[in-house]
Amino acid sequence: MGKPALQLKDVFTPGGQPTLTYVSRDHLKLEEKLEAALARGFAVNVVTGPTKSGKTVLSRRVLPKDALISIEGGQVRSEADFWKQVAFKLNLAKSVQRTGSDEASNQTELGGGAKAELLGIGVSGGAKNTSGTKHVDGRSATYDTVDLISSLEALKNRSMALLIDDFHYLDKPTQKAIIQSLKGAVYDGLSVILLAVPHRAFDPITVEHEMEGRFKHIQIPDWSQDDLIKIPDLGFKALNVICPQKAMERICSESFGNPLLVQEICTELCIANGVFGYQITPKKLSADKLNDIFSEIAQSKGFPKYERLKRGPQSRGGRQARKFKDDTSADIYAAILQAIARLGPKPKTTYDEIRSSLKDILADGQVPQKHEISAACAHMTKIAKDKLEGEPALEWLKGDDLLVLTDPFLMFYMKWAFKEG
Ligand SMILES: Nc1ncnc2c1ncn2[C@@H]1O[C@H](COP(=O)(O)OP(=O)(O)OP(=O)(O)O)[C@@H](O)[C@H]1O
Ligand SMILES: [Mg+2]
Repeated sequence: MGKPALQLKDVFTPGGQPTLTYVSRDHLKLEEKLEAALARGFAVNVVTGPTKSGKTVLSRRVLPKDALISIEGGQVRSEADFWKQVAFKLNLAKSVQRTGSDEASNQTELGGGAKAELLGIGVSGGAKNTSGTKHVDGRSATYDTVDLISSLEALKNRSMALLIDDFHYLDKPTQKAIIQSLKGAVYDGLSVILLAVPHRAFDPITVEHEMEGRFKHIQIPDWSQDDLIKIPDLGFKALNVICPQKAMERICSESFGNPLLVQEICTELCIANGVFGYQITPKKLSADKLNDIFSEIAQSKGFPKYERLKRGPQSRGGRQARKFKDDTSADIYAAILQAIARLGPKPKTTYDEIRSSLKDILADGQVPQKHEISAACAHMTKIAKDKLEGEPALEWLKGDDLLVLTDPFLMFYMKWAFKEG
């Protein structure tokens, strides 16, 4: 049997760009807002949304590929590196070396990549390699640091927009330098789009006061159940499989509002049912294995965030081990996380709830004092802020005696991997 024309990964795309299961959430008008921002120009548009909420998916869906230079914040090490990558993507080679059978020849300043093209060296388009060298037919084009000026000039002449994905991955000095160097170009009409998680989104504003009036904010709101359920709905129809409505609802309610988790669970449910692509005759999916699937997804992810929080501050060695009712023992950090996990976990847990949950799991006389619980929660908040990338996964609101969990993956992990063990 050959492969089906439509494969599972063409439909559900955990971590990739969905087409058949793309949900536009029309009522939020996100596409329109981004299109309008691009049309307006003269601004730095900051698109913010929680981790894995669909920032990259939205921008790829809306922004025209041929009129956009897109840079991944996570791959940029310095300002020079940033402009080198922009120049590379713009096909601006400063010197060209021919290797192989040809003699090496160096040329300076190729205008807009035209000479590179004349030499028959395809240097544009989707090149993953940003090291500065691309090999084609035994020849290589070498990219020296190209002036940011020529990059900005090319962006302007070609009417292209500039997108920096995961802008929050850049360190502050690099953010500042980049924003400063874009100032003039934005004034001349360049559209810049920055994608970032909310709590770091306005770093560029604080780094560059003069740019204040030029920033526009587009927020990606949380996902509702009604919108999330469109993912399995569209995907299962496309695959010609039938899934009970209840199971689809469960997939979405267990996903803590996160579309990536929905996509991932749908993929795993299909695989568990032997569905690897389009079914010529409609197939009914069994949802019996959903619990196993949840646990496996939680385990396989490993969720380093959780482990990092559980470890607590590294400086303190030899922490007191607390005895649990089941005769195991662990320190206060593990105990608190376990206490929260067994309550849901919920996005908001009060001190009183944590304390009574600790009482339920710890042996008599082992429950920590209030100041100890509060201090441990404050430490975890600090770890979440300073040591973990992205949005802080957890925050202790001291005045309110409230622990807030914001990371859907952390909550999913606590519910399905940790709680069981
Ligand atoms: N509009 C959508 N419709 C359907 N699925 C989506 C949508 N948006 C996101 N997803 C799913 O969620 C996944 C994560 O989306 P995306 O990578 O865009 O998030 P992000 O906000 O850019 O994450 P990060 O914070 O890591 O940059 C996608 O791979 C896709 O499977
Ligand atoms: Mg992204």
